[in-house]
Amino acid sequence: MSRLPPVEITVYPYECDAYGHLNEAAYLTVFERARWEALARGPGSDLFRRHGVWPAVRRASVEFHKPAFPGDVLTVDLRLEKLGRTSVALSQRAVRGADGELLAEAQLTFVMIDAAGRPVAVPEEVAAVFGGRVSTRPGEMARYDVSDVTLAADIRGDGPALLLVHGFPLDRTLWAHQVATLSGWRRIAPDLRGMGASDAPAEGYVMATYADDLVRLLDRLGIARAVVAGLSMGGYVVFEMLRRHRDRVAGVVLVDTRADADSAEGRAGRDAMIQLAQAEGARAVAERMLPRVLGRSTQQTQPLLVEQVREMMARTPVAGMVGALRAMRDRADSTPLLPSIDVPALVVVGQEDELCPPSVAKALTGAIPSAAMTVISGAGHLAPLEAPTAVSRVMAEFLEHARDRVR
Ligand code: MLT
Repeated sequence: MSRLPPVEITVYPYECDAYGHLNEAAYLTVFERARWEALARGPGSDLFRRHGVWPAVRRASVEFHKPAFPGDVLTVDLRLEKLGRTSVALSQRAVRGADGELLAEAQLTFVMIDAAGRPVAVPEEVAAVFGGRVSTRPGEMARYDVSDVTLAADIRGDGPALLLVHGFPLDRTLWAHQVATLSGWRRIAPDLRGMGASDAPAEGYVMATYADDLVRLLDRLGIARAVVAGLSMGGYVVFEMLRRHRDRVAGVVLVDTRADADSAEGRAGRDAMIQLAQAEGARAVAERMLPRVLGRSTQQTQPLLVEQVREMMARTPVAGMVGALRAMRDRADSTPLLPSIDVPALVVVGQEDELCPPSVAKALTGAIPSAAMTVISGAGHLAPLEAPTAVSRVMAEFLEHARDRVR
């Protein structure tokens, strides 16, 4: 399946023949408009230019089923049929919104070419956008001793380092799309201690330890400096890295997170959640949290993702869950740190994030001198999973600008 959303296209009078029907040439145009519109809403219409390739159409055929008329609104979806080394075969379907009739289908084969017109391999990000290769090869999982624990991490690609820190109670697969697509960077997505496939000792969970673990992981990998992205609790860990290991942080991406400490009410909520985890287990915590971590749109339209997140949370060891809840409850207020952040900074927030809403992200951005902010529409608290192509796209743009600071 393609990761590009279906788009709606209106049939204009000038596209129709003397009898009012959408004509053959116009159908090709409608399908083409739908593809560019889907790209613009997803990874960006400069997707191909970013990779120095162009999709040359090698074959296009349209099969008509029913006539379309001026003013009809067509929903056009897009599917990946086949991903070759240098080619991509796609199909599109145009369905009239008013009566649900399938009006036409297109079959297209593109070959990727470079500026000289030579066929080249389909770039990873392009393949991922069209639905190929992402879930099948999320990264190379490895385990690293970092002190009293071993951490699991997905590591992929070459280039300056990008460390991706997940939130609570999640794991490294939160960043699967970014690990798969942010080519030109060495992407490192670890499981924090107590979560995912990392060790989960009974005690020893404080923000400082999570930060120190990650710096030891960088040491093990021979990495001096990394751009560090953190989602929610991952953001709290990024702040701790800045406090304790500032020289190791070359840039920050703060996703669906906040700088302030827990309020008295928030701390009481943590204690209640700790009791729930201890009394009823991780699945009970997952059920409690699920409705708030995923955006409204995701809950309505992405049932498989809802299940994936439910299972990811429910797999978390109780010791790691309780430890993280205590560490978050007792974390320092990072607001005073913000004005001193002097590395490139990007703040990303899901428009439907209820836990760290756009108003919080705006305040965060305002307090960091060089920060830029992007709001991801249709996503909640887990934007990198809910709207993966949009998040990868803004991160790719940010990283391009930050690249020189990392070396
Ligand atoms: C997270 O997603 O990491 C948590 O929701 C953060 C929190 O509870 O403060």
